[in-house]
Amino acid sequence: MKIHVITGASDGIGAEVARQLAAAHGGQAGLVLAARSEDKLRAVAAQCRACGAQALVVPADLSHEPQCRALVEAAVQEFGRIDVLVNNAGMSAHALFADVQAQDLHWYEKLMKINLWSSVWCTHAALPYLKASHGQIAAVSSLAGLIGVPGRTAYSASKFAMTGFFEALRAELKSSGVSVTIAYPGVVATSIRYRGFNARGEPAGGSGLKEANAMSVEECARLILDGMHRRRREVVMSANAKLGRFAKLIVPAVVERAALAALKEEARPH
Ligand SMILES: NC(=O)c1ccc[n+]([C@@H]2O[C@H](COP(=O)([O-])OP(=O)(O)OC[C@H]3O[C@@H](n4cnc5c(N)ncnc54)[C@H](OP(=O)(O)O)[C@@H]3O)[C@@H](O)[C@H]2O)c1
Repeated sequence: MKIHVITGASDGIGAEVARQLAAAHGGQAGLVLAARSEDKLRAVAAQCRACGAQALVVPADLSHEPQCRALVEAAVQEFGRIDVLVNNAGMSAHALFADVQAQDLHWYEKLMKINLWSSVWCTHAALPYLKASHGQIAAVSSLAGLIGVPGRTAYSASKFAMTGFFEALRAELKSSGVSVTIAYPGVVATSIRYRGFNARGEPAGGSGLKEANAMSVEECARLILDGMHRRRREVVMSANAKLGRFAKLIVPAVVERAALAALKEEARPH
């Protein structure tokens, strides 16, 4: 049985990754599901068990290092091994930097803790077990971790940091047999932007991005799992994203204009 630890498994992409793993591997899948919302985790676990998978629910606020380490310990205690760590837990944020008051700037650090540091802490704790199993690490970064997106200084900073961390780690782990797959979703149809921080660090309650062409969560999870299955270095999810990445090197002003155009009118710099 292959043991997968999935962070941010209570909703959105992480929950769908868990469901698709359970559907594909049934009794061969051991799933360790972590997030803060225990009820939602239990519901996802029940869906996975209905496919024959074994599922352990670990309620945790992964913006705290001890809870990341406890998650890994709980997985090893239950299953004795870890084959795959999916660093997916994350939060969004949308605010123009000039609109953030000095007394509110602390939420930038909070965002870093969940988007970057939870991945660092979970990966550090799981690494000995992943080396033992010649396992896999997946990191769910974002297109905003390859191209700076206006209105998303905090989010882009956290996702660029994730990208840098996992690219460097991938090279360090080359001889160990542990692969690192970094996924770069664009806009995916989940509630992340509605829950994300606004300029005051409160839940935004709406999205600053145009959502009409959002990718389905099912398609996003499928692409991530396909990339992991092939032990790909990266999963860049659309032709536009692939193009944007290279265009940034040659015609950065065009890419900046395209990034601004992705914002709704009311979310643009005034
Ligand atoms: N949706 C997109 O358009 C998109 C695009 C690019 C990248 N991504 C990335 O994909 C990942 C998943 O996003 P999503 O769209 O699926 O968002 P989502 O539906 O809001 O799910 C986020 C998950 O992270 C968990 N989480 C948040 N804060 C946490 C904390 N402090 N401790 C533990 N778990 C925490 C949430 O669970 P609880 O609230 O229960 O803790 C939830 O399970 C994120 O890293 C996000 O940045 C998403």
